[in-house]
Amino acid sequence: MTLNLKPSLDSTAPKGPTSITIQGTDLEDALQYGPSPGLVGLRGWLSGLQETVHKRPIGDSWGITMGTGSQDLMVKAFGAVLNRGDPILLEAPLYAGVLPSLKNLEAELIEVDVDDQGLSAKNLERVLASWPTDKRRPKAVYSNPTGCNPSGCSASRERKLEVLEVCRKYNLLMIEETDYLSSPLQPSYFELETEVFPHGGHVIRFDSVSKLFSAGMRLGFATGPKALINAIDVAHAANNLHTSSISQAVALALMQHWGIKGFLAHSTAVAHFYAERREKFEALAHKHLDGLATWVSPKAGMFLWIDMSPSGIDDSMELISKEALAKGVLAVPGFVFYPLKRKSAHVRVSFSLVDLDSEAELGFQRLAEAIRDKRRQMGFE
Ligand SMILES: Cc1ncc(COP(=O)(O)O)c(C=O)c1O
Repeated sequence: MTLNLKPSLDSTAPKGPTSITIQGTDLEDALQYGPSPGLVGLRGWLSGLQETVHKRPIGDSWGITMGTGSQDLMVKAFGAVLNRGDPILLEAPLYAGVLPSLKNLEAELIEVDVDDQGLSAKNLERVLASWPTDKRRPKAVYSNPTGCNPSGCSASRERKLEVLEVCRKYNLLMIEETDYLSSPLQPSYFELETEVFPHGGHVIRFDSVSKLFSAGMRLGFATGPKALINAIDVAHAANNLHTSSISQAVALALMQHWGIKGFLAHSTAVAHFYAERREKFEALAHKHLDGLATWVSPKAGMFLWIDMSPSGIDDSMELISKEALAKGVLAVPGFVFYPLKRKSAHVRVSFSLVDLDSEAELGFQRLAEAIRDKRRQMGFE
């Protein structure tokens, strides 16, 4: 099997072969059933990556497993951690893709409001300090701490340590969902874990290759406490035996081709690619929305989480799903990202695919028009 590589995004990358061949036993492995946790070579490579980047020596305290995207891994982790009806703490707003599996588990969804750095240690503490004594306590908290989908926020090192302190106080598992797409890379919860929990065991990290290689490969990996990783492996064995060996073999070939340094250079190049788009997109947003809306300027990710409350709008549902849509604006109303579907003044817009030279400007122009129409409807103008 031969892969023809697209030109590198990293213009400084050494010019190397433009194709990679998977053959011999690697090809046999790619075409066969394999171990539930994933191909041994790939897990070995990724363990080395996690050890290097997060400064967590390979040993007894953590393991790694492959999944069909981080989505698949999170569903299996929730199944392993939660009993039916258990409460779980969720940053709010949050990536709505985690909600269906939590609803299947009949989990009690507890919202913890974010601030401009995402998950707030103060709000987390407030929720836990007032937890009724006769009620089952939450075991875990979920956060997407870098370039969060949808809030665009990123947590600093200090913020993560504050959150981990709350996790220590209340014996919580941190479910960290992230990837290698920020430049410079921020210390992860997984990296900082041992400053608060010297023996580990309290952070599970979900990585995705969807934005680094290809979303269609459906590949992600979970890194965390061995007992939890083993429970995810049992879920793999029961549900789908394992993640596609072909996707894993392709990822391994690419990673071996690059080495850790090349992989990180590629991640940085992708992060810069999005940063450039972000800058252009945000400039257009300012041009059309200043005075009507505000947002936290994102340091990573591919979303603007736009707060329309400065225009007197406290519920974006009708405006975004009907009025702006009728003008040709495709965006997601804020309530979708709240576990309890509260009213929201926000809208999430994405710059991952939009044409920045024409469509984005038109989109913001039309969104501004829709906001002004709404203000007239409400008698504000
Ligand atoms: C925060 C977040 N988590 C998970 C996913 C799904 O990731 P994967 O493709 O690895 O399943 C996405 C997709 O956009 C996402 O934004």
